[in-house]
Amino acid sequence: MSGLGKLRVAVIGAGAAGLCAARHLLSRPDAFAPPVVYELSKNIGGTWVYEERVGHYDNGLPIHSSMYRDLRTNIPKEVMSFPDFPFAKRLPSFVHHTEVRKYLEQYCDHFRLWDYIQFGTSVASVSPVDVKDGWKGLAWNVSTNDGLDLSKSTTEQFDAVMVCNGHFYDPYIPAIPGLNKFKGTLMHSHDYRSAEPLAGKSVVVLGAGLSGLDIAMELSNVDSKVILSHGQRPLSCPLPPGVTQAPPVISVLDDGTLEFRDGQTAKPEVFMFCTGYNFTFPFLHEEVGIQVQEHLVWPLYKFLIPPAYPSLFIVGICRAICPFPHFHIQSQFVLSVLDGSFRLPSREEMEKDIELDIAARRARGIATRHILKLDSEQWAYNDHLAHLGGFQPLPRYWSNLYESNKVFRARDMLNYKGYNYTVLKDMDWKVHDLHGQQLQKPLPADKQI
Ligand SMILES: Cc1cc2nc3c(=O)[nH]c(=O)nc-3n(C[C@H](O)[C@H](O)[C@H](O)COP(=O)(O)OP(=O)(O)OC[C@H]3O[C@@H](n4cnc5c(N)ncnc54)[C@H](O)[C@@H]3O)c2cc1C
Ligand SMILES: NC(=O)c1ccc[n+]([C@@H]2O[C@H](COP(=O)([O-])OP(=O)(O)OC[C@H]3O[C@@H](n4cnc5c(N)ncnc54)[C@H](OP(=O)(O)O)[C@@H]3O)[C@@H](O)[C@H]2O)c1
Ligand SMILES: *[C@@H]1O[C@H](CO)[C@@H](O)[C@H](O)[C@H]1NC(C)=O
Ligand SMILES: *[C@@H]1O[C@H](CO)[C@@H](O)[C@H](O)[C@H]1NC(C)=O
Ligand SMILES: *[C@@H]1O[C@H](CO)[C@@H](O)[C@H](O)[C@H]1NC(C)=O
Repeated sequence: MSGLGKLRVAVIGAGAAGLCAARHLLSRPDAFAPPVVYELSKNIGGTWVYEERVGHYDNGLPIHSSMYRDLRTNIPKEVMSFPDFPFAKRLPSFVHHTEVRKYLEQYCDHFRLWDYIQFGTSVASVSPVDVKDGWKGLAWNVSTNDGLDLSKSTTEQFDAVMVCNGHFYDPYIPAIPGLNKFKGTLMHSHDYRSAEPLAGKSVVVLGAGLSGLDIAMELSNVDSKVILSHGQRPLSCPLPPGVTQAPPVISVLDDGTLEFRDGQTAKPEVFMFCTGYNFTFPFLHEEVGIQVQEHLVWPLYKFLIPPAYPSLFIVGICRAICPFPHFHIQSQFVLSVLDGSFRLPSREEMEKDIELDIAARRARGIATRHILKLDSEQWAYNDHLAHLGGFQPLPRYWSNLYESNKVFRARDMLNYKGYNYTVLKDMDWKVHDLHGQQLQKPLPADKQI
């Protein structure tokens, strides 16, 4: 423990998650020293810092953001925001990415976070150290490099570390037999910026996650001929013009032709992987024992805490969630663990809890690679953490509005971003479509998902 009995916490990354962590740590000067936020780039905002270039920055580091030029949010601002900091009133519900970056900058202004961020500083290693009088007998050595000069390394010791490094920047490309024989342009959505360079071309988009769907729509607008190749049930909502569906690509033949699972083939000019991203924690000492296998980060109690090292927190690894509110809940839960208002179970109990939780998911037929997808379970998860930590849960309309947007998206992916939502005084909400027509709510108002 540091000087005055206050805990010193390091935060890795100044994206939405790291900023949220810092905001909550700063709100508790009684228990926490001001945090140190390490950010390798020169900006706050992570994913929301659009970078036109692809590949590497001038300093040789790989470009972090997967943002593309015309992206608008897919979650209405009314529930995308941190619950204690709404987006500006003048904005429509689905905003351009530049507005999200501005919003995060305003969050830094409002909560006075700027002074605690060390820009151009990349965390190279995080190692546990035995410290007799430390929090649970533990402390952390965090070594950082000056962004440019990798030989300039500094080590500082902390009581706890919140890892907020994001997980949408290291492209995952499935191993497809014969891939090296493909003769056209191969790319991953991480390097997609705008549709114009692909105008009029034939494109196979692999993966129908939100990137695959959104990019297919952008390509349709420039008259590309798109085959959306994916392993889900065929989409039944109206597709953009020029977009057809196919099963997954399973191999590339000797002449560069793509073969789909049903035996059909295609020879597109462009093969675009919208297949998602790898988790990576290159700075974590292997002694900590965090494993990443098939998109599962493990073992983490409440998807957050390694049982053997309970002053390390990996924030924001869950998928299919509403990110900012999720970070808001997780950060407060971390504080409740560190200030002792929630007493963690023993290491063995936490390990058992993780084992049972994963087993229960597997028993429901969930594949390993989908275990971190919380989806509609996120609301129970959020409420559970708020209950354990003794802090305010999300407002009641949050889950209903968010889940309703998912229904609208599945019904009408071409237009749902044109809707506007209004949260009413009594915490109910309403929605209007592009023509100003009020829509019927797709889920019962009191439905607790
Ligand atoms: C294309 C795309 C569209 C999206 N659209 C939406 C949307 O509409 N609505 C929504 O709510 N969410 C959306 N998301 C999810 C988005 O990722 C989250 O909103 C949020 O940005 C995640 O924040 P984060 O802090 O976890 O990670 P990031 O935003 O990735 O930030 C991580 C930060 O950590 C820094 N960092 C990494 N490693 C180190 C290191 N070793 N040392 C120091 N610093 C480091 C990085 O430089 C970065 O600044 C989208 C994501 C993508 C990829
Ligand atoms: N604001 C927006 O409009 C917007 C736009 C784009 C992205 N985003 C966000 O960005 C984040 C990343 O989204 P993402 O779509 O890039 O990643 P993702 O959610 O991980 O989706 C990747 C998809 O690729 C599929 N896939 C992987 N390997 C495959 C294979 N070999 N064959 C067929 N399909 C394969 C996956 O299917 P399986 O799961 O079955 O493996 C999954 O559906 C999400 O948070 C998303 O919300 C937002
Ligand atoms: C941790 O860092 C301190 C310097 O801050 C150093 O003296 C110590 O040897 C380091 N311990 C380990 C285990 O790396
Ligand atoms: C990331 O994904 C690639 C495939 O695209 C794989 O080869 C690599 O091993 C993965 N990296 C990690 C750290 O899992
Ligand atoms: C949504 O709100 C914005 C900003 O207030 C406005 O410009 C736009 O016309 C509205 N759209 C609909 C469909 O109501």
